Amino acid sequence: MSETRHIPVLLKEAITGLNIKPDGIYIDCTMGGAGHAAEILKRLSDKGHLYCFERDLDIIPGSRDRLAGIASNFTIIPENFINLKARMAELGVRQVNGVLYDLGVSSLQFDLAERGFSYHQDAPLDMRMDRQQILSAYDIVNYNSYEQLKDIFARYGEERFAAQIARRIVATREKKPIATTMELVEIVLKSVPPYVRRQDSHPAKKVFQALRIAVNNELENLEVSLNDAITLLGKGGRTVVISFHSLEDRIVKQTYRKYTEPAIPRDLPVRERDIIRKYRLVNKRVIEPTETEISVNRRARSAKMRILEKL
Ligand SMILES: C[S@@+](CC[C@H](N)C(=O)[O-])C[C@H]1O[C@@H](n2cnc3c(N)ncnc32)[C@H](O)[C@@H]1O
Repeated sequence: MSETRHIPVLLKEAITGLNIKPDGIYIDCTMGGAGHAAEILKRLSDKGHLYCFERDLDIIPGSRDRLAGIASNFTIIPENFINLKARMAELGVRQVNGVLYDLGVSSLQFDLAERGFSYHQDAPLDMRMDRQQILSAYDIVNYNSYEQLKDIFARYGEERFAAQIARRIVATREKKPIATTMELVEIVLKSVPPYVRRQDSHPAKKVFQALRIAVNNELENLEVSLNDAITLLGKGGRTVVISFHSLEDRIVKQTYRKYTEPAIPRDLPVRERDIIRKYRLVNKRVIEPTETEISVNRRARSAKMRILEKL
């Protein structure tokens, strides 16, 4: 294992947000280094149980040891959280008290150059969270069409210069395959105007984000799984989602809206007390990290947390 550590984001807020019942059943969909999972497990009695999903098999042994040092009432499911509903059904779990998502990559992945997530370190173009998966960033960059690349950069990266970058990728790979993160960074730098290269934000940030989302199918995983998690909640149960970019946050916001807005017939006079609400937003406003948290953990700077409760 590397010396890298992952500092959990919004840890106190997420634990408070889950409103943990000691005998309850909880799911951490994104175990990672088990920072949040450890705090959940510490609050459970012998009757409670914690299920943890993690699709990166390299991370699991370290996190299993960490959790085993606290208690034994946990189960690690080494899979994509898109399988939440099916796995819980197989395990006979029909209702849960809380589900947590702390999205994106862990520092345990991001800081390991060889994983290819970082535009600061030279490495093969990989970006797979699950190294058993076949599709990698290399495949997308070298085999997707110009239109597909432009669409990925525009949609998942909200990149203004998607067309220019896609065009240069296609021209470059005609001579030889684009194999490394630094070759891709170089292409981005040559494709954007000088003022973008002078900005604080790294010019390749959006392209790397877009590729990561595409390689790992991140948005679809979230949308499917969050809906399933919400339908698993028992009375008073909560879903807590920490997201790191606007595309993820939009999915969370829209999904929560779908469950919290009661369907009211337009042409009937309806009194407030007749409206049946099944879910509520625990916080009207999105929860963000404090300046103090951001100063000690830069990864926290774009975090947003939203909580839903089943009534
Ligand atoms: C930000 S980290 C979680 C960190 C963790 N909360 C902690 O404090 O240590 C996100 C983790 O979720 C995993 N992950 C992301 N998407 C996943 C998915 N669809 N299914 C299962 N695990 C996923 C990643 O591999 C990564 O380890």
